[in-house]
Amino acid sequence: MGEQVYIRDVAQHVGEEITVKGWLYNKTDKGRLQFLMLRDGTGMIQGVAFQREISPAAFEAAQAITQESSVIATGTVRADARAPGGHELSLSDVQIVQLAEEYPITPKEHGIEFLMENRHLWLRSSQQWAVLRVRATVIAAIRDWLDDHGFLLVDAPILTPAACEGTTTLFQTDYFGENAYLTQSGQLYNEATIMAFGRTYCFGPTFRAEKSKTRRHLTEFWMVEPEMAYADLEECMRVEEQFVSYIVQRVLEQRAEELAILERDTAPLEAIVPPFPRMRYDDAIAFLQEQKDPAVSGIAWGEDLGAPHETTLGLQHNKPLFVHRYPTQCKAFYMEADPENAQLSLSVDMLAPEGYGEIIGGGQRTASLELLEQRIVEHNLPREAFAWYLDLRRYGSVPHSGFGLGVERTVAWVCGLHHIRQTIPFPRTLGRIYP
Ligand code: 4AD
Ligand code: MG
Repeated sequence: MGEQVYIRDVAQHVGEEITVKGWLYNKTDKGRLQFLMLRDGTGMIQGVAFQREISPAAFEAAQAITQESSVIATGTVRADARAPGGHELSLSDVQIVQLAEEYPITPKEHGIEFLMENRHLWLRSSQQWAVLRVRATVIAAIRDWLDDHGFLLVDAPILTPAACEGTTTLFQTDYFGENAYLTQSGQLYNEATIMAFGRTYCFGPTFRAEKSKTRRHLTEFWMVEPEMAYADLEECMRVEEQFVSYIVQRVLEQRAEELAILERDTAPLEAIVPPFPRMRYDDAIAFLQEQKDPAVSGIAWGEDLGAPHETTLGLQHNKPLFVHRYPTQCKAFYMEADPENAQLSLSVDMLAPEGYGEIIGGGQRTASLELLEQRIVEHNLPREAFAWYLDLRRYGSVPHSGFGLGVERTVAWVCGLHHIRQTIPFPRTLGRIYP
């Protein structure tokens, strides 16, 4: 048996005998030649078993092996431009670790519900493998950029006593006889931590009982939420565009192979560099109302943008678009009022290009105790649960801003996926909590 090598490293072992420990992805039977496509989690390589060159037992194993059987294969690495990945293994030994039963996911087409039901197995397919590797890089890029730009990671709780993003999408649970809710956002806690640390972020799963089935909504999704003391709306946008550009460029640099598997056109991603275009909500509405499609033009001033509006706006630019200063009435209670127009809030959403819709929501937060108290009443929120939050406006209140970026929406855009469900290992949606 040769030295165990990960498939991603085979290029450094040309001419050597190595051992790969993995699974059989698929197989082509050409009689005396068996072509085994092997995968080990780090990549794929084709192994060729030639009857004349290996022991009868090894050849029998190569003939008998089934899709997704676990296998230990030994062979000599050959550079071969025609082989997928540029290398091939001339096999000298094949040992089946476990002969897999008939595998439910075959190379033919399957329906999405069937694949979702078998998500625990579907993860092994090359496209899913590619998406989740991009996801890991998006997450690493998020952490690195924030850690390198003066943001301290300070985690927010998952179990909370009150709503942050409206009471209609709360998951309620019993907390020793009291009501508690799964967090919708760590933002309010970040507003406390910035008064201790200046710039902070929290990063974790967030929950929304979204009762509609859309391609952009999960009930459990990951959000990174940076928050900044002494930062206004302008500063918030500057940070967002630097941050998102870094994430995209990092994926281009480190995940070219995965983007190729996904057949993602990378040219639109290369264009993602600061600055990003900015548009006022008022102008966005005027633009939308001029469109032909009634699903788009029917929007009235004061309404929040929906998916068709975001798509239409996003398609006008080759970079993400900032839409800012939404009416107070369509945004969360904590938004700062625009000093130039009390009907508007200092809010900003970032809409991805290519029609992927909103990936970031954020803005400047109310610094004034009086205004915040008024908003809590207007939104019918339980004042007691927000007593601590009001305190932040009593003891050294400052202008501050922040935002939340949805990891799954970002991964869907970067990977060019129509639906968000493949961007998280085990998606939770309306009607699915299995596997
Ligand atoms: O716009 P949202 O609701 O903003 C907040 O929660 C703020 N408190 C964040 C902050 O300022 N700290 O959500 C932010 C982002 C959205 O732009 C979207 O990318 C993602 O979170 N998101 C979802 N992703 C998947 N499924 C859902 N149901 C989502 N809801 C929001
Ligand atoms: Mg939003």
